Amino acid sequence: MENTNSRRDFLKKSAALALGTIAATAVVNNTLFANTQNTTLENYLLPGGDRFTLSVLPYTYDALEPHIDKLTMEIHHSKHHQAYVTNLNKALETIDNSILGSNYTFENIFDKIEKLPVAIRNNAGGHYNHSLFWILMKPNGGGQPKDKLAAAINTSFGSFDEFKKKFTESAMNRFGSGWAWLVLNKSKLTITSTANQDNSLMNVSGIEIKGTPILALDVWEHAYYLKNQNRRADYITSWWNIVNWDAAESLFNTASK
Ligand SMILES: [Fe+2]
Repeated sequence: MENTNSRRDFLKKSAALALGTIAATAVVNNTLFANTQNTTLENYLLPGGDRFTLSVLPYTYDALEPHIDKLTMEIHHSKHHQAYVTNLNKALETIDNSILGSNYTFENIFDKIEKLPVAIRNNAGGHYNHSLFWILMKPNGGGQPKDKLAAAINTSFGSFDEFKKKFTESAMNRFGSGWAWLVLNKSKLTITSTANQDNSLMNVSGIEIKGTPILALDVWEHAYYLKNQNRRADYITSWWNIVNWDAAESLFNTASK
């Protein structure tokens, strides 16, 4: 009982998010979830009570049609993402509390990831990465970023078109399953990719570029196979039409403060 209470207590404490990316919640909540129910970024990324939970999307499963089909979205969110959440909760029950102490934030989990079971690496990454992925898309999205993010992309890559080309190449060149990222590290924007459910916040060897995620693209086949089969390039082309640049701008503004 003591252990349960202790765990519940430190999970409550994790409501005070320290992770730079997640600190964007206030901005993101206001701009992205104003017209939805029970869909704050905190709901996505914080344990609910003493468990991590899967929140509903800030749009319907068919809202991203025709770019991403309804069935893919439904299975991706309700089956794949749910499995990461379920298995993260299971894995957290098995670990020695001395590793994470009383701090179950993603910041602490990713910082200690090398000392934790691979199941936590895969499933905490899966939960975090997908939560970002959902909010970084929206119906009638696409186009180009504005304001500070647009300027930073121009500074870092020369032009938006050059950035788009390099990001697409990174997503195409990720062998097997993984993610393409735009990350911010010490005021520098960089494109990178990670295998499996790794991300640029994980303190572990094999992560080429560290930094705060600004844009995330899931290139696992489960993200596109039903509609595009093996044609990852078609999926990426479609995805550019639904990028939520407002969300990316919010993440960038918070991370660059
Ligand atoms: Fe996925």
